[in-house]
Amino acid sequence: ATIQVNAGQAKEISKHLIGIFFEDINYGADGGLYAELVQNRDFEYTPTDRGNDQNWNSTHSWSVQGSDATLSIATENPIHPNNSHYAVFDVNAAEQTALVNAGFDGIALKKGEKYDFSLFGKVLEGKGGKVLVNLVDKDGTIIAQTAVNVTSKDWKQQKAVLTATSDAAAASLSIVPQAVSKYALDMISLFPQKTFKGRKNGLRADLAQTLADLHPRFVRFPGGCVAHGDGIDNIYDWKGSIGPLEARKPLRNLWGYHQTRGLGYHEYFLFCEDMGAEPVPVLAAGVPCQNSGTCAHHSKDELTCMGQQGGVPMEEMDQYIQDVLDLIEYANGDARKTVWGKKRAEAGHPKPFNLKFIGIGNEDMITPVFVERFKMIFDAVKAKHPEVTVIGTTGPFYEGTDYEVGWDLATELGVPMVDEHYYVEPGWMIHNQEYYDHYDRSKAKVYLGEYAAHLPGRPNNVETALAEALYLTAVERNGDVVEMTSYAPLLAKDGHTQWNPDLIYFNNTEVRPTVGYYTQQMYGQNAGTEYLSSTVKLNNGWDAVKKRVGVSVVKDANTGDYIVKLVNMLPVEVSSQVKLDGVTLVNPSATKTILTGDPKDRGAKPASSDFKVEGNDFSYSMPAYSFTVIRIHQV
Ligand code: AHR
Repeated sequence: ATIQVNAGQAKEISKHLIGIFFEDINYGADGGLYAELVQNRDFEYTPTDRGNDQNWNSTHSWSVQGSDATLSIATENPIHPNNSHYAVFDVNAAEQTALVNAGFDGIALKKGEKYDFSLFGKVLEGKGGKVLVNLVDKDGTIIAQTAVNVTSKDWKQQKAVLTATSDAAAASLSIVPQAVSKYALDMISLFPQKTFKGRKNGLRADLAQTLADLHPRFVRFPGGCVAHGDGIDNIYDWKGSIGPLEARKPLRNLWGYHQTRGLGYHEYFLFCEDMGAEPVPVLAAGVPCQNSGTCAHHSKDELTCMGQQGGVPMEEMDQYIQDVLDLIEYANGDARKTVWGKKRAEAGHPKPFNLKFIGIGNEDMITPVFVERFKMIFDAVKAKHPEVTVIGTTGPFYEGTDYEVGWDLATELGVPMVDEHYYVEPGWMIHNQEYYDHYDRSKAKVYLGEYAAHLPGRPNNVETALAEALYLTAVERNGDVVEMTSYAPLLAKDGHTQWNPDLIYFNNTEVRPTVGYYTQQMYGQNAGTEYLSSTVKLNNGWDAVKKRVGVSVVKDANTGDYIVKLVNMLPVEVSSQVKLDGVTLVNPSATKTILTGDPKDRGAKPASSDFKVEGNDFSYSMPAYSFTVIRIHQV
């Protein structure tokens, strides 16, 4: 087949099209992006974090080595009521015994690198004294050592720095008191000094850099389901995620683990700023996941729900709404004149974060319980902060409903943007490229907040990545109505994965971007501000074949570059003739980046090379099963 691309009239498209969906699922935050190396540093793990698993308790990841010492957990006079459990280490033999933390599948260390250690300690009985802090390799070799003093009768934070003398994939942290005493210990923490942008309490540099390399225009957080939780008491209360670490409110993670929330709202905002991305916080619409009941939409007018449906009680809604407004003030309020702006300044960021978007609700069933609360929150934000775009939700994707219920509500209320989610087969993406062509431009804009191509067995391979690339050519074409997109989920730790496929897999020492990651990266790094309409002519006019070839041509007004994206999901090479009608290229130079492989290949990576473009009409042969980006620069 030969295709001919004619790029014609231009239309402006969203400058926020490609972003990141961040949720603490698959150990994405604690044990993942959040660089803390000590697991259960706060001694707040509880069996209910994990379906009443009795091994998942305050001593999880901690053990005592050596003789004559006991570890117990106490709750009287904690450092802070939000962090009510701490360790009591009763040591009857000096230098003989250690309190050991196993980390998250061990602690990975790099030779020559420095690590910040800290703990809160007090002496309950005896005088206390020096406490050695060791990082110990699997074979028992001490590869870093320092010491702190624990002698005070009141909680006091102690800090020290360790330097690793060799690499270790799975070391442990060992705390060895040098004096017989009964110690109270809490918030025992170890961070690499090398975090993303060198921030304290920061993010794992390699993972964060992999995300930054996507050139995301926005970051959605903290979910997903984590945002609305699986019950009212599990809603992600943003206020519990800011302030001093020892005063943050840990939260059960509905994916079956524990959120320290050391990576909380302030850190999310900083991460966005560090990447030049817009923050897109998503807050519950006053209802937890599916309003806590199990509901199903059978049609636009027929909804059945089982179980107790509930939302935040009406008498608590004023406070709930105030919390939402306070978040906007935390992000944007004056550092001297506003309560929450002051708190942001106290956390080290007097300048506002310039929040422009806020999501209300995540994939919620559009029930009366939801509608009542959503409307209250929406009206309040609109009245107080008309400058902030509220993103509503269309509810879960069901065959036959096509989001009608959520869309009707958005239209009725005049919600400016709605969040659609769909996980679909590659075939759906191939056959629904017109999905947004018919969207009513006078209604809400779209945030495609969660999507991915799913195959049986849920691999992330060339087939799924190309289906996504193909679908995104159609999304770019509709970049006047689709404002933002984010693949989901983002991160998954080996051995702790609740959901597949994800965009990036990792363990403590490796980061493995998937083929789908490269699709996102090729779009993120080659975004445009104008879409040039193009027509694709196949010399074989068979529709099913045509649907497997996609083209999108954009111009980036910031660089003046023209960017041609070509996707070929056919098993044969397709020769193309690209005609950039009406475009005059001055001294063009171009690069081409190709992602290609066998459909089942999970390891394909893109390759870039120079590409010869002499004028606005050039030919290019698209390899079988490939996604190509040709970027034309002018001098
Ligand atoms: O991305 C994983 C989950 O899928 C999200 O938490 C939820 O919003 C969706 O159902």
